[in-house]
Amino acid sequence: MAPCSPLSILLFLSVAATIAAVSYADDFPPPYDFKHVCDPNRYKKLNLSVAKFAFCDKSLPYRARAKNLVDSLTLQEKVTLLGNQNADVQRLGLPRYNWWSEALHGVSNFGGGSRFGKNVPGATSFPLPITSAAAFNEQLWKAIGQTISTEARAMHNAGMAGLTFWSPNINVVRDPRWGRILETPGEDPFIVGRYAVNFVRGMQDVVGQETAEDPNTRPLKVSACCKHYAAYDLDNWATTGSAVVDRVHFNANVTEQDMVETFLRPFEMCVKEGDVSSVMCSYNQVNAIPTCVDARLLRGTIRNDWELHGYIVSDCDSIDVLLNTQKFLDDTPEDAVAQVLRAGLDLDCGDTYTKYLESATVRGLVKQSELDQALINNYVVLLRLGFFDGQPAYDKLTVSDVCSKQHLDLATDAARQGIVLLKNSNGALPLSTKRHKNIAVVGPNSADNSVQIGNYAGVPCKYVTAVDGLRRYASVDHKIGCADVRCQNETFIFPAVRSARNADATVIVAGLNLDIEREDHDRTDLELPGYQNQLIRQVADASKGPVVLVIFSAGGVNVTEFDVSDKISAIVWAGYPGEKGGDALADVLYGSYNPGRIQTYKFYNGTTIYPFGYGLSYTTFSYSVVSTQRYVDKKLAPNSHCTLLRYNQSAYVPPCHAARVEDLDCADDISVTVEVKNTGNLDGSDAVILYSQAPDGILGAPIKQVVGFQRVLVEAGKSSNVTFSLSSCKSLSIVTDSAYVAVPSGRHTFIVGSGDNAVPFAFQVYLRD
Ligand SMILES: *[C@@H]1O[C@H](CO)[C@@H](O)[C@H](O)[C@H]1NC(C)=O
Ligand SMILES: *[C@@H]1O[C@H](CO)[C@@H](O)[C@H](O)[C@H]1NC(C)=O
Ligand SMILES: *[C@@H]1O[C@H](CO)[C@@H](O)[C@H](O)[C@H]1NC(C)=O
Ligand SMILES: *[C@@H]1O[C@H](CO)[C@@H](O)[C@H](O)[C@H]1NC(C)=O
Ligand SMILES: *[C@@H]1O[C@H](CO)[C@@H](O)[C@H](O)[C@H]1NC(C)=O
Ligand SMILES: *[C@@H]1O[C@H](CO)[C@@H](O)[C@H](O)[C@H]1NC(C)=O
Ligand SMILES: *[C@@H]1O[C@H](CO)[C@@H](O)[C@H](O)[C@H]1NC(C)=O
Repeated sequence: MAPCSPLSILLFLSVAATIAAVSYADDFPPPYDFKHVCDPNRYKKLNLSVAKFAFCDKSLPYRARAKNLVDSLTLQEKVTLLGNQNADVQRLGLPRYNWWSEALHGVSNFGGGSRFGKNVPGATSFPLPITSAAAFNEQLWKAIGQTISTEARAMHNAGMAGLTFWSPNINVVRDPRWGRILETPGEDPFIVGRYAVNFVRGMQDVVGQETAEDPNTRPLKVSACCKHYAAYDLDNWATTGSAVVDRVHFNANVTEQDMVETFLRPFEMCVKEGDVSSVMCSYNQVNAIPTCVDARLLRGTIRNDWELHGYIVSDCDSIDVLLNTQKFLDDTPEDAVAQVLRAGLDLDCGDTYTKYLESATVRGLVKQSELDQALINNYVVLLRLGFFDGQPAYDKLTVSDVCSKQHLDLATDAARQGIVLLKNSNGALPLSTKRHKNIAVVGPNSADNSVQIGNYAGVPCKYVTAVDGLRRYASVDHKIGCADVRCQNETFIFPAVRSARNADATVIVAGLNLDIEREDHDRTDLELPGYQNQLIRQVADASKGPVVLVIFSAGGVNVTEFDVSDKISAIVWAGYPGEKGGDALADVLYGSYNPGRIQTYKFYNGTTIYPFGYGLSYTTFSYSVVSTQRYVDKKLAPNSHCTLLRYNQSAYVPPCHAARVEDLDCADDISVTVEVKNTGNLDGSDAVILYSQAPDGILGAPIKQVVGFQRVLVEAGKSSNVTFSLSSCKSLSIVTDSAYVAVPSGRHTFIVGSGDNAVPFAFQVYLRD
């Protein structure tokens, strides 16, 4: 997508000798004994009168209440409340609170701010984002956010959950070996950004109050957090001897152009369009400055340019890392925390603020007013959440709203929509309940609960593995094939081979798990681990019936051999499909659900086995563009000038190269309607992806970029029209060498779809100054 190859970041690793000791204390976990702070009965029990505390006065604006609260605190109290683990302040009736909860794909107990117990044993565990993202379905992403926040609010009412969730992870994937790909929506900045907007809106929006005149008063269902800002794409890669290549030593060397075009874009969309209430800075450095102390990135970009309504939090122990591991500027601890606070960081996940901000303030390195502003940013979010007053729309939710049938059905549907069919020779899939009654199910991921839910998981309501799911359709002979995903010897291969020999069909469930790719653990190659290839080969050779290879993984794996092999009839990618993944997989394999033509992932810069946007269906689709608009004619704002671009020698160079988007009127000025025809015999849904391409010959422009996508269900033989309302400023702009966002004049190209059924059409931009 971007001019930089997916591997380029790995070439610029900084090297140092030690890894930070990361500690996550867990001092203030639930159960919380309060429904909402300002409940008069609660104060009565504390022998306090709520009327004495103006921060509980509902007639005052949130900002005034937050200021009153902060003004009531001593310096020492202020400092302790700037860490994520807040002890209670008894004299004010302020309860303890742990800001750190997670909800990447369901309410999680990771972080300590939320937990499970007798009254709430589990919560719905959706597919990991890499799988849900592959559905290309904005409504689905929003519905997942809405469901998670409903369960979170219900758990909060039961005293078991916080209200501040540090999800989603929206780092753009740049290397298929990165360990955290499963947590992300993938490699395309626009799709990642749309995922962020929808998930955050689902999590945060109180129905009917999606906007407010003063966004700092807009009520929140729960608070989401877009992380990790920014250019964070590496965890722990090929550490050998004294050469440590990990996230806390990583200095991403990023051009301004790449920063704006790729790394910042999803965060910008998350803040501006999602109106998220928190952003988290990362561990790494960008161009030699740790992100959490970069005033330009935090205060400048997030708070001022994008107008964040919320708080900025550090990744856990980031401040400790920049102080003790990166030894940034060889600062004293007091200098470091003062600089971080002044850069705009409002809350420290960790205890570095709480250890050193008091002495930093006493020494005059920061002013109390600067501490106060950070606290006010934090408390306004808690006020908007109803932490102090309750949130009437959600206060009636109970534990019976967690793990409901409706929620579990959504988890199944999300997995069905995210599963990708990569190969299907001779219509081997779907399997038939008549012809494939006795099947062999083998492979290390065939019946492993934990692989389904990946990381940042909670306790799921229940598990449905591939074996469980397939038993609904067939009689299953299950053989594991390998002791585990590492598959270090051949001991279990033969029983799997024998099972395949006698079965009507064979399903091999292979791939990776958290032992192979996870936070703090990147891969160094793309091969299936251990003897897995051998298992697949031998089982396929022996099989009587069709052989379906199912891959669980987030990062790409090299399945070239099986893509070309006659012995493997079909290949299906499932990502990490969540607690109900086995049901979804079985529905796809037996054709109760028709997979869409959907996203997969980039492999190498050179050859890719399956390109971005690839995916098969049990039916076929064709596109035609039915809208007739083929140009926009735009006048630059008064007193503005055309922007220069660089062109190659043979290119046509127009008189006005381009206009910066701030100099153009860019309401939705382009409408593209595509007729999608289902030319096959089965109903099915298709992900229609629209790309744009800048005029030929502009140096540094991307090859093409995704500007819109919609998932549409079309009955067999029928057609459906899909309309994209676009803005030329967003959809036809490029980022120049100087990091300006500008719309080039000349002949652009829109392309609907990719590969054989792509439909390109020219689109002219005229600029007048
Ligand atoms: C409130 O006061 C009553 C009576 O003095 C006492 O029994 C109780 O322990 C006090 N409660 C708290 C929370 O201090
Ligand atoms: C960063 O990359 C640029 C070229 O893209 C190079 O000139 C510069 O030396 C690099 N800086 C570091 C610190 O690696
Ligand atoms: C094969 O691997 C499993 C798990 O790693 C181990 O328990 C078993 O002892 C190994 N068998 C042989 C023959 O090495
Ligand atoms: C993928 O595997 C094939 C053998 O099946 C090998 O030839 C090729 O080099 C591998 N590609 C990568 C990128 O590792
Ligand atoms: C792919 O990346 C490698 C390593 O960065 C580089 O040496 C190679 O030239 C690239 N290949 C292409 C086709 O861009
Ligand atoms: C230069 O631009 C022309 C189109 O104007 C294009 O055909 C050609 O491939 C470009 N050459 C390079 C080296 O990018
Ligand atoms: C799609 O739009 C075109 C142009 O307006 C119209 O002719 C066609 O009938 C529409 N198709 C469907 C399925 O509505």
